[in-house]
Amino acid sequence: MKQTVLVSGGAGYIGSHTAVELINAGFDVVIADNLSNSDMSGVEGVRKITGIDVPFVNVDCCDTEAFRKVFEQYEFDSIIHFAAFKAVGESVADPMKYYHNNLLSFMNVINLMREFNRHNIVFSSSATVYGEADQLPVTEQTPRKPATSAYGNTKQMCEDILRDSVNAYESLNGIALRYFNPIGAHPSALIGELPRGVPQNLVPFITQTAAGVRECLSIFGDDYPTPDGSCLRDYIDVVDLAKAHVVAIARMVDGKSKTRYEIFNVGTGNGVSVFELVRGFERVNDLKLNYKVAPRRPGDVVAIWADTSLANEELGWKAERSLDDTLASAWAWEKHVRGL
Ligand code: NAD
Ligand code: WQD
Repeated sequence: MKQTVLVSGGAGYIGSHTAVELINAGFDVVIADNLSNSDMSGVEGVRKITGIDVPFVNVDCCDTEAFRKVFEQYEFDSIIHFAAFKAVGESVADPMKYYHNNLLSFMNVINLMREFNRHNIVFSSSATVYGEADQLPVTEQTPRKPATSAYGNTKQMCEDILRDSVNAYESLNGIALRYFNPIGAHPSALIGELPRGVPQNLVPFITQTAAGVRECLSIFGDDYPTPDGSCLRDYIDVVDLAKAHVVAIARMVDGKSKTRYEIFNVGTGNGVSVFELVRGFERVNDLKLNYKVAPRRPGDVVAIWADTSLANEELGWKAERSLDDTLASAWAWEKHVRGL
């Protein structure tokens, strides 16, 4: 029987790519989003790529009554919960905005799943839960470090809420996917990342600089204890990341989970420096980027990348797209957005 998946936050960057991959894999999809950090272009892009008139509900997951109607209207057994705010700096400046939105929306999902006897949930977690890890690469067993932002804290708290809920309520199965640094866009260039205001993340800042929207990229620090002095991260292609969600849902639907709550790292397994990324972007797209070295950004970890063995072995998932192809897709998307 065809399975339906509710994708909360599905108008956003990762959610829209995941909706496409779910449909490609034979699932039906319902998107629920309040467009607080997105617009309808993501949903329209999903519809265009797949040729399916994917249902969209404009709803705030924090609004219990309104969200309940989505559960009443649609017969999904699985949910992928992307809906959250994600700006680390903003979360430090205004923590209650983050605790309210990220915790309440997630608790509503869990409560409504119980009320309506819906079974499977994937939660969008983050490598931010590891902080500055003592050993690299990080495995799922690597201890989490105390969060240094309200955003990071909401990811840790939601992981714990999911663990405790699955332990207590037998009807629930949960998977937390810890994303490393998602970048790139769909090969069609019809969906991608749409940051509002000045981008905080590296790749959107690079593409906007290349497009002339930003004057100059600042590389935050060249004196870290790394081979070239810049920070190391695990940049994961957004389509590969989207596919990890499909296999996570299928694992629960097919009853293949080893335990009812599981955690998987979703990365490539490679640490890439800021300089390497910038030079790769220039080479692949045959352009020169205006950049300068700037002071370190407070709060940055020096280096983090994933041990992906568990996802490789248990989910049968592996990152496939090359960094070059991903960086080309990021630029193709920026050109699409700017009409270049
Ligand atoms: P995004 O902002 O593009 O997508 C999130 C979507 O959720 C947006 O469309 C927004 O409008 C919606 N939303 C927010 N609060 C809502 C609410 N209360 N009700 C309904 N909709 C709501 O962000 P993204 O990059 O696609 O991230 C998706 C998820 O992945 C988030 O939970 C984020 O914390 C997590 N994550 C992202 C990254 C990253 O670097 N992008 C890394 C790790 C984890
Ligand atoms: C990557 C590298 C910067 C911008 C953040 C969140 C994390 C997760 C992913 C959600 C770092 C450097 C950046 C710039 C730069 N999100 N940089 N110039 O910090 O690894 O992770 O996004 O869960 O929680 O903290 O990603 O893209 O901001 O930075 O030199 O203009 O690029 O210092 O080394 P980060 P990022």
